[in-house]
Amino acid sequence: THQWRGIIEEYRDRLPVSDSTPVVTLREGGTPLVPAQVLSERTGCEVHLKVEGANPTGSFKDRGMTMAITRAKEEGAQAVICASTGNTSASAAAYAVRAGMVCAVLVPTGKIALGKMGQALVHGAKILQVDGNFDDCLTLARGLSDNYPVALVNSVNPVRIEGQKTAAFEIVDMLGDAPDIHVLPVGNAGNITAYWKGYTEYAADGVATRKPRMWGFQASGSAPIVRGEVVKDPSTIATAIRIGNPASWQYALAARDESGGFIDEVTDREILRAYRLLASQEGVFVEPASAASVAGLLKAAEQGKVDPGQRIVCTVTGNGLKDPDWAVAGAPQPVTVPVDSAAAAERLGLA
Ligand code: F0G
Repeated sequence: THQWRGIIEEYRDRLPVSDSTPVVTLREGGTPLVPAQVLSERTGCEVHLKVEGANPTGSFKDRGMTMAITRAKEEGAQAVICASTGNTSASAAAYAVRAGMVCAVLVPTGKIALGKMGQALVHGAKILQVDGNFDDCLTLARGLSDNYPVALVNSVNPVRIEGQKTAAFEIVDMLGDAPDIHVLPVGNAGNITAYWKGYTEYAADGVATRKPRMWGFQASGSAPIVRGEVVKDPSTIATAIRIGNPASWQYALAARDESGGFIDEVTDREILRAYRLLASQEGVFVEPASAASVAGLLKAAEQGKVDPGQRIVCTVTGNGLKDPDWAVAGAPQPVTVPVDSAAAAERLGLA
């Protein structure tokens, strides 16, 4: 009876559900807010990580998906569809299983991490690899949902944003108020939109006394919001945010401007450096896209944009196990030893 019940039950009064809504949940949310010691030292601030990789399918998408699949079920849908760089499809596939629905997913060929593909496959989704990028997949998915009996569960579906805003509620509930700054990776820009909505609602109702500045970071090769124009052929090793024409672009600009924040870019090199730092110094293993938030914070600190003494939350959006290739790449190969304690001790530097 003490188990976290999932975001719909925990925040029922703040979500668009009624007593008769058939809730589809894997008990998502309630994720750890972990103090980041090394990042705090480096910035002179109090930095926390909101570890969204601890959700049931390993990413923040589960918060929006419990709402989207619940709504689809309520409306009698028998099938759902999404475009995805991987995490949305993994989440949709899992929640569709819970709801007894068919799940169709459209992903860019060759550009989704193996772990995410494995999830969609094992949950029994119908997967189409599209010869195009995420933006092309989303265009296709929208068209199919307009013309066929299949419900769209991408974040252009507003109930996804409703579910995802609960992460901001959890942070305020945990810290007692909103942080000074909230840092996020930005891809399709649904999550920055959702956090801003959550913070804004809590402030409007007096649960929080203030709202944070929203800092978003795109990958340099996929930074349409920073450039102010669509990127036709987006590129980055952080495949989750390889997006050239974000659906929630205007909402992201609103979150940036209303909060007095900014949206900037980080290079793949900076992303991988933050990825390694998180794993080797904070003990938190995230996927590369997630490290864009931390890379951005470090970049901002180096530029002198981070005044000391502030309370900062970085969302790390997905689990490192989704895309382990980057953990293995460039790391030294483990050595092989016989079943011999002297040899093992010597190799470990214990002898
Ligand atoms: N981090 C991860 C791990 C993601 O999977 C995504 C988006 C983002 C950050 C960016 O969030 O799109 O709300 O700005 N992944 C989507 C997907 C596009 O299909 O899984 P956003």
